[in-house]
Amino acid sequence: MGGSMTAKSASGIPLGSTGPHAVQPLPDKPRFGQPMSEADLAAWNIDIRTPDGRGLPAGRGSVAEGRKVYEAKCVACHGADAKGGPMYGTMVGGIGSFTTNTRVLTPGSMYPYAPILFDYIRRAMPMDRPQTLSADEVYAVSAYLLNLNGLVSADAVMDAARLAQVQMPNRNGFLLDDRPDTRAQRCMTSCK
Ligand code: HEC
Repeated sequence: MGGSMTAKSASGIPLGSTGPHAVQPLPDKPRFGQPMSEADLAAWNIDIRTPDGRGLPAGRGSVAEGRKVYEAKCVACHGADAKGGPMYGTMVGGIGSFTTNTRVLTPGSMYPYAPILFDYIRRAMPMDRPQTLSADEVYAVSAYLLNLNGLVSADAVMDAARLAQVQMPNRNGFLLDDRPDTRAQRCMTSCK
């Protein structure tokens, strides 16, 4: 690098320091107190209420489309037909194995609600490039994995409503933790 670095970005940080560990100069003053726009917030606000799918985005994808996404972006780590690859074991089968000593953890055997699959893939996969899939791609690859697990038909199309309706075999396999929330009272003097 070196030489002339005259261009400056809007933030005042010189452009052109493109090395892998380029030192970013500090901004001349802190930027506290700037309101966040709804659009900026939307990128972070990706919670889904998994039992009923509230918060699932618009979009749709079929099993066939999901197979294409899978083969382009997932197969290298998860193997052909999601039966296990160099980075992770099978994502298919194991249904009913939770009551045995040889549990096989897959989305089909473990997840109580199908929207968990969407949420997990959208946040975390592909592991080397998380959050790069479109909503349509996540619906499609979710449909594909559900089909491989025998939970939806080969011509299924998933969207917000239909994903939430898929009945997962392990739906009732979890105990509800209904203990009351802890009540923490603020106390600065003579506390109990
Ligand atoms: C670079 C390797 C890599 C790629 C590419 C990748 N994954 Fe994964 N995936 C992993 C690893 C490793 C885990 C286990 C993570 C953990 O347990 O914390 C995982 C876990 C998962 C799980 C959870 C499995 C379970 O049994 O609960 C799902 C679902 C999944 N991946 C889907 C996908 C999909 C869909 C794609 C493609 C869009 C993809 N992955 C691409 C490495 C990868």
